[in-house]
Amino acid sequence: MGEIIQLVALVVLVASLAYVLLLIFGNFRIQNATVVSAEAESQFFRTQIAEIMDRRQIIKAQDETSWQGFRKFKVERKFPEGGGICSFYLHPHDDRPLPFFEPGQYLTFKLDIPDQKKQTIRCYSLSDQPLSDYYRVSIKKIPPPKDNPDAPPGLGSSFFHDNINEGDIIDVKAPAGQFFLDVTKPHPVVLIGGGIGLTPVLSMLKEVITREWRTEVWFFYGVSNGGEHIMKDHLKELAEKFDNVKVRIVYSRPKDEDVEGADYDIKGRVGVEMFKEVLPSSNYHYYFCGPPPMMNSLFEDLREWNVPEDHIHYEAFGPATVKKKQEADVSSGAEGAGEKSAEGFTINFAKSNKTAEWTSAAGSILDFAEENDVDIDFGCRAGNCGTCITAVKDGDVDYLTEPGERPEAGSCLACVSIPKGNITIDA
Ligand SMILES: Cc1cc2nc3c(=O)[nH]c(=O)nc-3n(C[C@H](O)[C@H](O)[C@H](O)COP(=O)(O)OP(=O)(O)OC[C@H]3O[C@@H](n4cnc5c(N)ncnc54)[C@H](O)[C@@H]3O)c2cc1C
Ligand code: FES
Repeated sequence: MGEIIQLVALVVLVASLAYVLLLIFGNFRIQNATVVSAEAESQFFRTQIAEIMDRRQIIKAQDETSWQGFRKFKVERKFPEGGGICSFYLHPHDDRPLPFFEPGQYLTFKLDIPDQKKQTIRCYSLSDQPLSDYYRVSIKKIPPPKDNPDAPPGLGSSFFHDNINEGDIIDVKAPAGQFFLDVTKPHPVVLIGGGIGLTPVLSMLKEVITREWRTEVWFFYGVSNGGEHIMKDHLKELAEKFDNVKVRIVYSRPKDEDVEGADYDIKGRVGVEMFKEVLPSSNYHYYFCGPPPMMNSLFEDLREWNVPEDHIHYEAFGPATVKKKQEADVSSGAEGAGEKSAEGFTINFAKSNKTAEWTSAAGSILDFAEENDVDIDFGCRAGNCGTCITAVKDGDVDYLTEPGERPEAGSCLACVSIPKGNITIDA
């Protein structure tokens, strides 16, 4: 009997102990969960506040150190990267600090090229990361078109390669452009550079690495073969920094001496078919810049792969002369342009005191102005750089392609606009 009482007492004791432990542990878990969720919440707000502060600081620094018009820069270093590409390291001549730029943005240059009637304006992406005391652009010398080998090579790029040297002073506009990565908001990204289109996405890659983004970062660099593959060791080094950063070098036509696994990772063309094999999902923001075939297909292919439009960001360098494309758009009846093909309107160039009849065959207002010996400055001829902005004094315009950023009401980007009716412009 005594043993039974002892056994019951032991069971009661163990059960009580277990109950007490359960209470303590359960309470601890509840408290812990509350603490964790409170901590997560405050971490979330801290991150949000940090992002806002970060962005504010960037905007403040940009406002304080940016400049209007052109500023003098000294070419501190000129470095041949190979593949017909040369990098130029630019230091402000006044030694004052440089504004932060958003990775992906570009500089606009004004070049005094001998024997040219007017100064030549060209845009080049910033190829290094921001927050440094210099800017770097990497420029490919553009050869004559394959179907016209006797044509002169690219004017601006050849001038940079052949005539701009260390110690030279050049005129540069402040960084600009809508194609950039918001570095204050880490998110999973796929950065894609084709050929010289590497430059803006390289700037993005370097900055996300510096900021130690912990989200997935994929980087695809597509070239024909090893002869075009620039900054090889540098890219390798970047790829080895963090596990979440994955660099894939893609050769479309490797040469015999190019070794898969050593010189490049994948043979083929960068595109959605490759992404389907390499990426775990389509759930990223895509930033791309590359040659026309890539630009022509990638956007639509990504859309077909159900990537939302606001996850697709791109910039086309194009040649400075994109007339053919615009003409093709007009004659093929691109949206909004087809109905106008039969119409003709009067364009009054107020400053030049000239009036001429425009038809769709004349192309953009910029093309038409040039045909009529009316000067309008231009840079990208693709609606990106804002150089050709012209006041519309009377009438209205349509856009052949959506510009990077629409100018204020009462003005137009002449390189990508056509008249909607009779117009008077300040040129
Ligand atoms: C936002 C932006 C960023 C850019 N970033 C970069 C960058 O980082 N790096 C880079 O290298 N480029 C970049 N570019 C491209 C750059 O701005 C120029 O478009 C490029 O250097 C070509 O300019 P160009 O003056 O050398 O050639 P152009 O003189 O404009 O000539 C273009 C082509 O036309 C041919 N051509 C010239 N005259 C004739 C003729 N009479 N008949 C037939 N063909 C002719 C030339 O041989 C050449 O192939 C960027 C462009 C933009 C818009
Ligand atoms: S020339 Fe660059 S926007 Fe027109």
